[in-house]
Amino acid sequence: MRKHKIRSGMIGLALILAPSIAQAQSADPLAPTGRWTANTDGQAATPPMGWNSWNAFFTDMDEEKVLASAQKIVSSGLAAKGYRYINLDEGWWEKRREDGRMLVRTEKFPSARTDDGSTSFRPFTDRLHAMGLKAGLYSDLGRNTCAQAYMPDEPNLPRGNVREREVGLYGHIDRDIGLYFGEWGFDYIKIDGCGLRAYGPDSALVKSGRYRELDPILDLRDVNKSNIPAVRNLFEQVKVALARHASDGDYLLSLCIWGSANVRSWGKDVGNISRTSDDIAPRWDALLTNFDTAATRALYAHPGSWNDPDMLFIGKGDFDEHHLVEAQSHFALWAMLNAPLLIGTDLRKTPPLLMDVFGNDRLIAINQDRGGHQAVVVDRQGDIQTLVKTLANGDKAVAILNRGSTSQDATLNAAQLKFRNDAPVRLVDLWNGTAVDFTGERSFRLAPHQTLVFRANGARSLTDGMYLSELPGVVNPAVDGVVRPKPDPTIEPPIYAGWGGAQADRTPYGRGLQVAGRHFVNGVGILSNSRLEVKNQHYRRLTVSVGVDNSATDAKRPVTFIIYGDGRPLARSAALRRGDAAQDLAVNTSGVKLLELVARSEGTDNEALPVTWGDAAFRR
Ligand code: GLA
Repeated sequence: MRKHKIRSGMIGLALILAPSIAQAQSADPLAPTGRWTANTDGQAATPPMGWNSWNAFFTDMDEEKVLASAQKIVSSGLAAKGYRYINLDEGWWEKRREDGRMLVRTEKFPSARTDDGSTSFRPFTDRLHAMGLKAGLYSDLGRNTCAQAYMPDEPNLPRGNVREREVGLYGHIDRDIGLYFGEWGFDYIKIDGCGLRAYGPDSALVKSGRYRELDPILDLRDVNKSNIPAVRNLFEQVKVALARHASDGDYLLSLCIWGSANVRSWGKDVGNISRTSDDIAPRWDALLTNFDTAATRALYAHPGSWNDPDMLFIGKGDFDEHHLVEAQSHFALWAMLNAPLLIGTDLRKTPPLLMDVFGNDRLIAINQDRGGHQAVVVDRQGDIQTLVKTLANGDKAVAILNRGSTSQDATLNAAQLKFRNDAPVRLVDLWNGTAVDFTGERSFRLAPHQTLVFRANGARSLTDGMYLSELPGVVNPAVDGVVRPKPDPTIEPPIYAGWGGAQADRTPYGRGLQVAGRHFVNGVGILSNSRLEVKNQHYRRLTVSVGVDNSATDAKRPVTFIIYGDGRPLARSAALRRGDAAQDLAVNTSGVKLLELVARSEGTDNEALPVTWGDAAFRR
């Protein structure tokens, strides 16, 4: 295998432009910062909703097709329900002019024609804005794009000579962002990474002479072959450019590097949404893969920085109008994951049955809930998987998914909702609005591929507070202890470097939490040498039982647990080893805005040391 070469020019650029990264590397990453470091810039307090051209048309799009779907979004009432971004994906470009200015393909977007040939998307974005909508555009972080690399037969590839066909941001970040946001008035940009991965010296694309070489800094198959700081630095340059050119803060930055380059750990600090997987396909198995990449990453999604398992494919293949069960599952699961709800179908032709799926107010409310807590997987029995999402008013949303192709029985119990099992629980079916009550547990029969989804209300087991694992939207694994990123082996194909990341109610490797024989149904599992940031929403105390998890393979090394409030130490545990009983810590959090939960050990082999913040809870 070719040894990974790093361009010295790239490193020089990275060091000049990202002093913050260099500083961060030299500083103690476990030192409290007193501030929430996940991204809150841009417009993503709730996950974005809208429409994107790709799954509907690939590059074969034009102004008429896009505006027809935009009009349908408005006339059908979907816009009023929150679908507001109309995003052009790949295929809008003609070329990059010799002086560097990007030109629009005016035969496809006639309103972009200008007398002097410089082209402008302003009339197009003005039109969308006048309809009460927002406009999104697409680019690549490299010089060239995904379709140029992988879809040579697509109709609307860039034209011209080698340089003119270099339509990506590489070397043009500030100028392009200025054009797209300042001059053309876009509000959203999706940035792909194919240009950083497909144009190496050995690629047929480069050897053919049609494309210039760009040494790959992204490797989808092997996270350790990616130059992670360089990739991150390029995205941070985009963020800086957005702050300059979209100075009103009205932008949304979508990272599209498919879970590669360990983006799990840093994408949330840079962009508003971050892809967790390769492209979705209109097949049930593809949906499950994309779902899985995001489903165990609840702690990595927050208001301002969401997991993106890719756009909706409702309307095609396994999710067309003849597969309503699957289409509804797709929508319900994406709603539960706080995924972007980006319609990817030609709305001119969408039958009412599917329009009703997109327009389901109850599910939209789950996705757009202000609490911003992604659902947590609470159970998996064979093909049956149960997810629970905490809502801002304390209710829960619960989804029961049948992954398999045969009918299945499933049982929901009150404890999975963190409700008492001796008090009634009310479930409201989010598809038909009917209510059912149960006490203790209730069984359901699920059709193949069906997802039952309810809003649930009951008596909480923890009456005077909330477990942190119920509140992933306010828990940020700022440093999650993963030092050698690895793909998650439970997901096929194993691309997403999420293995060992922090988990709600589970160890980093997906087991039940346990400290010295004591099981914790509730808690946060993370590796040692980690720092969790936790936003306090006016609670007065934080209580927790800490210890090295029984699943640790290292029994010798001690871990010290420290809780900080707004940067000041509030509590510290003894040095605890595997086998030591969990130690109770309780801190007064009145007036404290940000808690930081640090687990510190000597040495760097953190993988051997999963630690448990057992029963970690805010109390009133
Ligand atoms: C990549 C992205 C897709 C789409 C295409 C366009 O594959 O992951 O979502 O944008 O590029 O070429």
